[in-house]
Amino acid sequence: MNFIELAKSRFSCRSYLDKPVENEKIMQVIEAARIAPSACNIQPWYFYVIKDDKDLLNKIHESYYRDWFNEAPVVIVCCADVNQAWVRKEDGKNHSDIDISIAIDHITLAATDLDLATCWVCNFYVDKVKEYLNLPEHLEPVALLSLGYPKEDKIKKMEKGRKSIDDIVEFW
Ligand SMILES: Cc1cc2nc3c(=O)[nH]c(=O)nc-3n(C[C@H](O)[C@H](O)[C@H](O)COP(=O)(O)O)c2cc1C
Repeated sequence: MNFIELAKSRFSCRSYLDKPVENEKIMQVIEAARIAPSACNIQPWYFYVIKDDKDLLNKIHESYYRDWFNEAPVVIVCCADVNQAWVRKEDGKNHSDIDISIAIDHITLAATDLDLATCWVCNFYVDKVKEYLNLPEHLEPVALLSLGYPKEDKIKKMEKGRKSIDDIVEFW
């Protein structure tokens, strides 16, 4: 698959097989995050892979209560280190959200390449996740990423509903 084909075949998967994800594949997607670029190369991120601790997995599922999310055999809690991240002097903009988003995107694409599927979840109860993982103040859970094998009949092989090129770019 070339890059555009890979990027087009990634989709937000909301239906997973009851099939474990191999540790080697999980390590490969985390490796994809590890090599992501970040402002000043600070790499202000930390990932909690929740899979074997079923009590914790259930709790994380409860922080975003949807039937489909309950199916995910793995959830990666993607945290940004707000204290470490680069802050632009001019306006005080903390770049942790940008940095971790790039790393998460690397994960989603690497997962697709391994025939896995993911879905970003940001609409979760942040305080619950902080409590369940006993997160230190400086670690902000930015996204929960579901990870697993997609149900075959739910794989979206479609032209994505996206704005047209003309709507998003201008050449001067
Ligand atoms: C930052 C971000 C937050 C998102 N949060 C959620 C979420 O809480 N729940 C959900 O079902 N999907 C969530 N999504 C998935 C988007 O709905 C999805 O990416 C978008 O509709 C495009 O569809 P696609 O990923 O299949 O191309 C999120 C995506 C991003 C990038």
